[in-house]
Amino acid sequence: MSNAPHRPDDQYSRVNYRRLIAWETRITREAPFLLSLLDRAPERSVIDVGCGTGEHVAFFAGTDVRAVGLDRSASMIEAARDHEEAGKGRFVLGDAMAARAALGNEPPFGLAICLGNMLPHLAEEPDLTRVLASLHDVLLPGGLLLIQLLNYEGILATGKRYLPVNLRPGDDGKEIVFLRLMSPAEDGRLLFFPATLELDPDAEEPLRVTMSRRVELRAWTRAQLAPALAATGFDAVFHGDMGGGAFVLEDSADLVVVATRRKGPVPAHP
Ligand SMILES: C[S@@+](CC[C@H](N)C(=O)[O-])C[C@H]1O[C@@H](n2cnc3c(N)ncnc32)[C@H](O)[C@@H]1O
Repeated sequence: MSNAPHRPDDQYSRVNYRRLIAWETRITREAPFLLSLLDRAPERSVIDVGCGTGEHVAFFAGTDVRAVGLDRSASMIEAARDHEEAGKGRFVLGDAMAARAALGNEPPFGLAICLGNMLPHLAEEPDLTRVLASLHDVLLPGGLLLIQLLNYEGILATGKRYLPVNLRPGDDGKEIVFLRLMSPAEDGRLLFFPATLELDPDAEEPLRVTMSRRVELRAWTRAQLAPALAATGFDAVFHGDMGGGAFVLEDSADLVVVATRRKGPVPAHP
């Protein structure tokens, strides 16, 4: 885990997100779909909203694409700056609800991505609408928006309580165990309990909890997302994975949305 100080307003401080994900494996798996969307986009440029530690931005920047990451977590942006310093993208601290203002003079983009469960952090319909309208504002006409979140609709329908455990290399021969438990909550919400444990095979007590959080998430469904996307000027298609496969309620791991920003007049955002 990171040694950075805990900041109560930053859910991700002291979470070494970069280390919890097998980035190379993940990006290699997602790359064909990401690049196919870039090929369809009106311009080869990408804004990653909720970019976390910036690995997707670095991936796109590595293919000579203008790539910018935006995140409201200071600790995530701090970590992402490693990529900026290596010449791989640009990172901006700011809220997705006001992306245009946060990005300053940055021209609009051909593709916006919003991956890894960023959307469920938005609690209410007006927040969702504000973020979608804000994404509309930073895209070129005909630009594409890719959203990926867990298939919460399926999780709630099947009573699933946990995601697969991830094991990652730690320091000095130890391993990091990334555990994610979930409990259904009221009003289409879900309590999410991410935790990390350190596994030290030589210790008397080999497992030690090094981080645990309680995060309330909104389990957005297709029935809620579809009208919000339409009202903010997007035509959306739903998929079940980051390869463009079909969405199957009880089986799909993810809910993936590919939405096109309409070319016509911009709707008056609520
Ligand atoms: C679980 S991480 C996902 C990171 C990365 N996109 C991925 O695919 O792994 C969710 C990210 O969304 C960011 N986030 C949540 N709400 C946000 C908002 N309103 N504006 C900007 N970033 C936000 C969090 O700070 C966090 O870095």
